[in-house]
Amino acid sequence: MSYSVEELLAVARAMRDRAYAPYSGFRVGAALMCADGAVYGGCNVENASFGLSICAERVAVFRAVAEGRRSFVALAVTGSGPDPVYPCGACRQVLHEFAPDLTVVVANGRGEYWECKLEDLLPRAFNREFCLRESI
Ligand code: THU
Repeated sequence: MSYSVEELLAVARAMRDRAYAPYSGFRVGAALMCADGAVYGGCNVENASFGLSICAERVAVFRAVAEGRRSFVALAVTGSGPDPVYPCGACRQVLHEFAPDLTVVVANGRGEYWECKLEDLLPRAFNREFCLRESI
């Protein structure tokens, strides 16, 4: 499935503008493209109990899974600062559960972007094979 980076980034930017980040002031938007072409967006949602905050990427994944999608092709992530936003470790692990081959597009607030693979962001990931293997 081919995808338009510009389309994904436009969704990610719209999501970033909906971020609820009154504590960090760090607004993040994500857009996840599914194998069937559907796109799910997410923004970070913070909480006065800081540990309950959730990243934009996981919101996008959970929205997609809740709508019946489990096959993902590409993820775009953007902040509003000069540096691209790379998914945090927790989000990398959650993304890996469904899409070890995922293409990840990271953008900065100027619209510049870089493409990489999830495999490069989370090499030798813990995965379901380890979990499901019979113990000795
Ligand atoms: N955040 C994301 O939404 N995605 C990332 O990849 C990095 C961090 C959010 C979490 C928190 O609301 C804020 O950015 C500062 O860490």
